[in-house]
Amino acid sequence: MSTTVIILAAGKGTRMRSSLPKVLQPLAGRPLLGHVIETAQQLQADNIITIYGHGGEQVQQAFAHETVQWVEQAEQLGTGHAVQMALPVLGQDGVSIILSGDVPCISQATLEQLVEASQATGIGLVTLTLPDATGYGRIVRDNGQIQAIVEHKDASEAQRQIQEINTGIYCVSNAKLHQWLPKLSNDNAQGEYYLTDIVAMAIADGMQVASVQPERAFEVEGVNDRMQLAALEREFQSFQAKQLMQQGVHLIDPSRFDLRGSLKVGQDVRIDINVIIEGEVELGDRVEIGAGCVIKNSKIAAGTKVQPYSVFENAIVGEDVQIGPFARLRPGAVLANEVHIGNFVEVKNTQIGVGSKANHFTYLGDAEVGAGSNIGAGTITCNYDGANKFKTIIGDAAFIGSNSSLVAPVTIGNGATVGAGSVITRDVADHSLAFERSKQLSKDNYQRPQKLKK
Ligand code: UD1
Ligand code: CA
Repeated sequence: MSTTVIILAAGKGTRMRSSLPKVLQPLAGRPLLGHVIETAQQLQADNIITIYGHGGEQVQQAFAHETVQWVEQAEQLGTGHAVQMALPVLGQDGVSIILSGDVPCISQATLEQLVEASQATGIGLVTLTLPDATGYGRIVRDNGQIQAIVEHKDASEAQRQIQEINTGIYCVSNAKLHQWLPKLSNDNAQGEYYLTDIVAMAIADGMQVASVQPERAFEVEGVNDRMQLAALEREFQSFQAKQLMQQGVHLIDPSRFDLRGSLKVGQDVRIDINVIIEGEVELGDRVEIGAGCVIKNSKIAAGTKVQPYSVFENAIVGEDVQIGPFARLRPGAVLANEVHIGNFVEVKNTQIGVGSKANHFTYLGDAEVGAGSNIGAGTITCNYDGANKFKTIIGDAAFIGSNSSLVAPVTIGNGATVGAGSVITRDVADHSLAFERSKQLSKDNYQRPQKLKK
């Protein structure tokens, strides 16, 4: 049986008050529509059709790398009208799962249950029972059987007491969509073509309508304004935090942890408060991440400790490394085991060998550092002449004195020593000492300037 996912994403999202189309607003660092497309992919849908309207070009561009079929709904005449737009590209066989681009957290598991429940009936819905159902379409049942969906604005006082709501998520046979959608009318309180009217059409055709409830209520929460976006962000984050804790991660405070991507963890990983993990991150056994760190697209191996307020991006870190506080690893930082990177040290496109240390105020860019070397406080690799970048090579067991400038391209040999305060422009041979300083002058009994009398 072929499965199509149709994602409704043509709405404007006026209440976000943003120049960004609503479905591109980020939840956990990824556009709302990106979450929905990922779920559709997990379901192994044969085809994903996205109905777009507002900000179409921007939306399509954001997903240029995904296999999605784009169908325009130039005028937003209602949810039923939106699905009508897909009919010309929708086959007669199989079923369609209809989702909303602004309901990002719907899970694969709930949708699989929906598809299964709908198999016998040809139509099924995800519904939810809410204490306050104001605004939603209500599920009208008779003897337990679904009869219709009535929109809040069209509902009678008695129907408004119904607490079971339509979440806007459906599974319908494609043949039936072809049969029903052309017959929708907009004779209702909002003058819209309601997709929800297909439920009454199914009943009129003598069919039954299946329903399932989501595993978790936040799965069907929609985003219409910034308050709802922030609230859903929290629920999603707390769900992810729980999953990590179930895997054995020690989150000091799950309410102060943000995962914007995916995190793979070993055993006994400990994460202090206000840490943000972005993109794809791997943390090995016993890794500790201090408060306030931001770690993006990086791998950190077993036993490494990261002190507070360190920032990583595209870095690879070995075992038993010590980093921070206030360290910055930029793309291409590759640290071997037992390296020490201390406060206010920035490392970019640089490999550092086993056990080497740069403990204070240093910039290492476009460099290779061997094993067992010590990079003194304030050392700078001058990698950029304003137009081009050059490489600094530092061997094994080298000692770079504090406040040295290594003007690339330059090589410091194995076991070489650079005196503090040097500006090194020429290569330093293995096991030699290089220093570059003016002679120190002294004046005896020096009088400091005095404040002038006015
Ligand atoms: C809809 C349902 C309601 C349900 C609620 C759940 C109908 C008539 N009503 O109401 O029963 O309780 O969702 O949130 O379907 N869209 C388009 N084109 C349009 C109109 C909407 O693409 O012409 C998209 C929107 O961008 C959104 C989705 O469809 O992603 C739902 O539209 P929305 O206007 O939010 O529907 P509601 O009136 O809230
Ligand atoms: Ca809505």
